[in-house]
Amino acid sequence: MKDKTQTTERVDALLAKMSIEEKVAQLNQIGGADWNNGPKPEEVIRKSGAGSVLWLNDTKRFNELQKIAIEESPSGIPILFALDVIHGYRTIFPVPLGMAASWDPNVAEKAQTVAAKEARAAGIHWTFGPMLDIARDARWGRIVEGAGEDPNLGSAMAAAQVRGFQGADEIDTEHVLACAKHFAGYGAADGGRDYDPVFLSEAQLRNVYFPPFKAAVDAGVGTFMSAYMDLNNVPASGNRWLLKDVLRDEWGFEGFVISDAFGVANLAVQGFAKDRKDATLRSLQAGQHMDMASSAYLENLAELVQDGLLSVEEIDEMVRPILETKVRMGLFEKPYVDEGLLEKVIALPEHREAARMAAQRSMVLLRNEGSLLPLSKTQKKVAVIGPLADSMTATEGSWMVFGHQPAAVTVLEGIRNKLPEAEIVYAPGPEIRRDIPHPFGEFDTIARKPVQTPEEAEAAFQTAVKAAQEADVVIAVMGETQDMAGEFASRGSLDLPGRQEELLKAVDALGKPIVLVLLGGRPLSINWAAEHVPAILEAWEPGTEGGNAVADILFGDVNPGGKLPVTFPRSGNHAPLYYARTLTHMPEDHERYLSRYWDGPTTPLYPFGYGLSYTNFEIKNLKLSASEIKVGETLTVTAEVSNTGNHAGDEVVQLYIHQKWGSDSRPLRELKGFERISIQAGETKQVSFQLGPDELRYWSTSAQGWIQDVAEFDVWVGSDSQATLHAGFEVVA
Ligand code: NOJ
Repeated sequence: MKDKTQTTERVDALLAKMSIEEKVAQLNQIGGADWNNGPKPEEVIRKSGAGSVLWLNDTKRFNELQKIAIEESPSGIPILFALDVIHGYRTIFPVPLGMAASWDPNVAEKAQTVAAKEARAAGIHWTFGPMLDIARDARWGRIVEGAGEDPNLGSAMAAAQVRGFQGADEIDTEHVLACAKHFAGYGAADGGRDYDPVFLSEAQLRNVYFPPFKAAVDAGVGTFMSAYMDLNNVPASGNRWLLKDVLRDEWGFEGFVISDAFGVANLAVQGFAKDRKDATLRSLQAGQHMDMASSAYLENLAELVQDGLLSVEEIDEMVRPILETKVRMGLFEKPYVDEGLLEKVIALPEHREAARMAAQRSMVLLRNEGSLLPLSKTQKKVAVIGPLADSMTATEGSWMVFGHQPAAVTVLEGIRNKLPEAEIVYAPGPEIRRDIPHPFGEFDTIARKPVQTPEEAEAAFQTAVKAAQEADVVIAVMGETQDMAGEFASRGSLDLPGRQEELLKAVDALGKPIVLVLLGGRPLSINWAAEHVPAILEAWEPGTEGGNAVADILFGDVNPGGKLPVTFPRSGNHAPLYYARTLTHMPEDHERYLSRYWDGPTTPLYPFGYGLSYTNFEIKNLKLSASEIKVGETLTVTAEVSNTGNHAGDEVVQLYIHQKWGSDSRPLRELKGFERISIQAGETKQVSFQLGPDELRYWSTSAQGWIQDVAEFDVWVGSDSQATLHAGFEVVA
């Protein structure tokens, strides 16, 4: 670890010789892509340097621009090159929602370790991840980028990803600087519509939306990104309470904050700032160190100092953590990247092995009637149908780095690899696409096919039915394409798009055994399939080795053990739907309770934490170390989990609590601990969890602060959020 005073002294010395223009340049991140109509990176860098450059993915160009910064800019300060490396650079891992479904923080840590190593070898210093937005509305497209609906699971995944990206201590040349985004509340956009306003109480923010961000700070995350949207009528990019009071003063975050793209200038578009100059002043004073790509800081900061509206000291205070980061990362000593390194790093076999393992562990078995799965490897004739069966882009998922060439093993290929002797007939059926094209479509590296005519779609439909008719077993790979979730990818319905369900029904009518493999980045309301298709595997967007991992599971080489990190609603109209809501005066077990709606059940299609296995588990002998504890004390919860089936397998044992009364109403269930354990057939293992003040306190609206109440608690331990194994305890004064 570099000595803190040495770093400070070095930064002081740099600041002492920098002009105001150079300081402002450090607060600026240049959009380096051709489509970004800002000033030419070379010119800006030569004149006064740059804090950072983003949207470039070109090792040679990194070195060229770095050379200009080091040799030609006045103070020779190196540039931080930034890019969104969300779930892999070249070796692609499951999307973050899928990684969270592993309920195994090691999966996320390992994935981001590999991503960091590859990205750094390409010359990237800084990634815009992990994305830590709690998402309880499956219509919101960006649900795919986070860990789902729960603060406890989300915090574990947050810390693991930070460790993976940044490494254990200082960020060395195999790691990258991480960025906790989007601070905060973005996942609660009204109606799940991307960028729409968010209204969250302080209690919701502190109890639900903040914990993953706090966990990232505690894990040492180097940077934060402010969110785009209005939070309680104050845009996050100009929200001093968020960026200063909470993040710096309360949590002690010492890194720096960057806006989201164009977020500073957009304060004027959002009806908050008067103009770009006002936006600059208010964003900086709110605690925004770096302006991502809007150039508003570059244009206005020096003038604001001249006008006497900002002091040089205020500017210095903002530049300081950026320079400290560059010093601590060793960029002054080693500003360039070895241009031959990437090819060596991406060839490492352990990267693909890690990707396959992560994909296997992320998949969730949703249904398996009559133990249809695992399928035998002696199949003679298999029909692989569905529009995603051979789609590399759907297998890799959303958020590839710029210029990425799709290279995933598709499900079709994975099945072919697994069954080299069998006859595999592939028929995709009708295509699916967004009704309104994705605005990022221009970045696609492979040309899109022309839109199918209705006649072509019908012919494809009939070919798929015919393929199914002639096969012994049908594997349908359906869901959403990679541009149907992510940024700009919210939707009103959660149904399978296009004619996919119709195709499933037509195949079901043939009486063939069908396995549905779902690809996509959000929960889907697959109500019909959930009752008629005997086996359903949620594979998310599983990455480079996704198709192999699916085949490993379908043909029994791997026993699935993932669990849902989000509730699956029965309809998009039911969103937001999540397990940790509070009780009502007419709870679900009330004699007159039927449903919250009169036109159908509002229970989830699949609850949070749910997932099946090829074996059976029994969880029993729930014991608490005490039936009563005092405020501030800790008790231990233990239980036994037995594998009562015939296969080795993994169970994710989950601990939920409910505080029965208190200063505020508390959620009817809250996850407070989990552990994924591997158990041999016939074996029994013990799990143990602690419940102490950290688990039992909450931010109370009534008390306007953190509080631990004197009250009774329910405890459940089980295999999903509807666990029934129950005990109770009391907290006394
Ligand atoms: C906009 C997105 O909201 C954010 O997640 C991303 O990191 C930036 N653009 C940079 O690409």
